[in-house]
Amino acid sequence: MPSAPYLGKDLVGLEELDADQIRGILDTAEPFKEISERAIKKVPVLRGKTIVNLFFEPSTRTRISFEFAEKRLSADTVNVAASGSSVQKGETLVDTARNLEAMRIDMVVIRHGSSGAARFLGERIPSNVINAGDGRHEHPTQALLDMLTIRDHLGRLEGVRVCIVGDVLHSRVARSNIWGLTKLGAEVAVCGPPTLLPAGVEELGVRVFTRVEEAIEWAEVLNVLRLQLERMHAGYIPSLREYNRVFGITRERVERAPRDLLILHPGPMNRGVEIDSDVADGEHSVILDQVTNGVAVRMAVLYLLAGGAPDKAEVAKHGVE
Ligand code: CP
Repeated sequence: MPSAPYLGKDLVGLEELDADQIRGILDTAEPFKEISERAIKKVPVLRGKTIVNLFFEPSTRTRISFEFAEKRLSADTVNVAASGSSVQKGETLVDTARNLEAMRIDMVVIRHGSSGAARFLGERIPSNVINAGDGRHEHPTQALLDMLTIRDHLGRLEGVRVCIVGDVLHSRVARSNIWGLTKLGAEVAVCGPPTLLPAGVEELGVRVFTRVEEAIEWAEVLNVLRLQLERMHAGYIPSLREYNRVFGITRERVERAPRDLLILHPGPMNRGVEIDSDVADGEHSVILDQVTNGVAVRMAVLYLLAGGAPDKAEVAKHGVE
């Protein structure tokens, strides 16, 4: 596949994109939303393209939503997980990808536990590579769907005050959100225990709150992060109960906010830890809207990497040249 003019060959992270490119992806997602509301959810935008979804870490939302996006754009898709593949026999990432390339593929969507895996792969194979989450580095399509959801509900991103709450240290979602939101003019803060905030996070242009009450006083949007217990091999927090008591997004805290808050969470949630069920399922939550928008955002990214242009998306989805 030739290099795409709008985004370049790969989507590794939002750090590499400028504000116009990020806005262009969000704008391209708009016309694609409607496809998923049709009785027959299929358009010929990627007919003839072959896409491999290479998921080396668990995923529900990202993997399934990429697969829906690909199928709704009429691409042929293959899913590869570490378990059951030759990765279990010690085959390297590049050897796996080169063997897939030998079968003439066009794109690879990759989730991997190592930061930098998506870039590493993109530099070594001619197919377009899309980062579906690499270690602690970036999860660009998650941040794009978060931004689209905020824009849908508040009508803008510029000047919106977004606080990312929780385990920022281990979070690729936080990093992509910080890059994307700040480039589009939002004010961004992070909040969490000092053990779960990366050293020097202020240098990314964000405010830091260590009391969640202050964060809630300031914010219009809370993006609540999962405590990534599987990545915590030391005592980052005294206990889950203590974390919920001090940093949990509870109904009482949300009700004391000086304004209506928009509540996001990338999932999967630890209910009763970083977020209470009352809030996750409550009137301020847009968590399932995020999931719905994930399909449209991923359609937009696939379309643009395949060489599409934002201003042609409306026409392309009707299969007209
Ligand atoms: N938000 C997110 O990446 O969820 P999954 O791990 O289920 O894909």
